[in-house]
Amino acid sequence: MTALGIHDLSVATTHHVLELDDLAARNGVDPQKYRMGLGQAQMSVPAPDEDVVTMGAAAALPIIERHGTDRIRTLLFATETGVDNSKAAGVFVHSLLGLPAAVRTVELKQACYSGTAALQTALGIVARNPSEQVLVITADIARYELDSAAEPTQGAAAVAMLVSADPALLALETASGVHTADIDDFWRPLDSTTAVVDGALSTRAYMDAVLGAWDDYRAHGGAEFADIDHFVYHQPFTKMARKAHARLAQHNGAESVPEAFESTFTYNIQLGNSYTASMYAGLAALLDSDDDLTGKRIGLLSYGSGSVGEVLSGIVQPGYREHVRAEQTRAALENRQRIALEDYRALHAAVDGSSTDQEFPQVTAAPFRLAGIRGHARHYESTRSA
Ligand code: COA
Repeated sequence: MTALGIHDLSVATTHHVLELDDLAARNGVDPQKYRMGLGQAQMSVPAPDEDVVTMGAAAALPIIERHGTDRIRTLLFATETGVDNSKAAGVFVHSLLGLPAAVRTVELKQACYSGTAALQTALGIVARNPSEQVLVITADIARYELDSAAEPTQGAAAVAMLVSADPALLALETASGVHTADIDDFWRPLDSTTAVVDGALSTRAYMDAVLGAWDDYRAHGGAEFADIDHFVYHQPFTKMARKAHARLAQHNGAESVPEAFESTFTYNIQLGNSYTASMYAGLAALLDSDDDLTGKRIGLLSYGSGSVGEVLSGIVQPGYREHVRAEQTRAALENRQRIALEDYRALHAAVDGSSTDQEFPQVTAAPFRLAGIRGHARHYESTRSA
């Protein structure tokens, strides 16, 4: 059977970065609470002319430049931070990237989980016709109330993936495990630009979903715990993944070894939570690490509040190192501009979700920007031709 999986993977983030030490100082909190207690050092902060469309298009652009558009007939955009209640964010990306008209484009939503639903949908499409490729984009801006306990767990990023037959990076195995439970642990009402969250409940619901999906994965032919070399968890904050791995190891009567998950944290410690993109940013960090992962089995443990969990696994392909984008991601992180605490608070407070006509100042150095809202419609532009 032809292998199907992730052929290319590309990370993008925002123009600004906030140091969590600055937030700790304002909140009168020991900086070690954020660094050690949550496992976070920074968070990406969007400029006024950035959103999930501009980040998603920026993540996908290098994939299009490398592979062209001929085989892409589907664009799946997974996000919790949609920019319209009707139009898929992916339609704007389709236009910005100059994709052909013969593409189906749709948006998927289920908190932080929907990127994995997009990946599974993509695999189904490619299985039906292995000559086709699917562009999957995961992008989110995690926003909680200012001065709330959840504030240090904000962040933003996009991860674009090209799903195809004979993948260069990760061949996904057929077995998967799924879990759904109706829980009010985190949600974002239609009239709110920030999420409502019960932090303690969300960590318990995450754990339950991971264990439930794991048991289902095993019952459907998934690999044994001992046969998985590295575990990539959804990382709302990296300490959460550390705790989840300890719990999953205990569930399997095994030891929790840091080597099995720590190199998946490198990017998310700096990005903060990026909801749908978070687990895939963890996968990018693992593939970009110094270890040679050829032939290794990777477990992916996805969670979205509300709640849905899924466990799947894949095998790292020979020659994968020639295709990873470590330099691109490091540059995206390093090129962010440090934002002062008061400027971050002003930007946060200015987001009101309104569709009133306005033009946005040009701040971002990204390839695409949100230029303005005219007649309630969002207008994006390329900064490359500007
Ligand atoms: N040095 C080191 N660690 C410290 C510390 C210090 N000075 N002070 C506190 N800590 C540790 C605590 O012991 C705790 O660690 P533990 O969970 O291993 O016991 C951790 O920092 C967090 O502190 P705590 O007071 O328990 O939580 P909080 O009120 O700050 O809230 C969240 C933390 C994650 C619940 C909150 O940020 C949140 O709601 N985030 C959004 C929801 C979310 O991401 N959920 C995850 C599942 S999707």
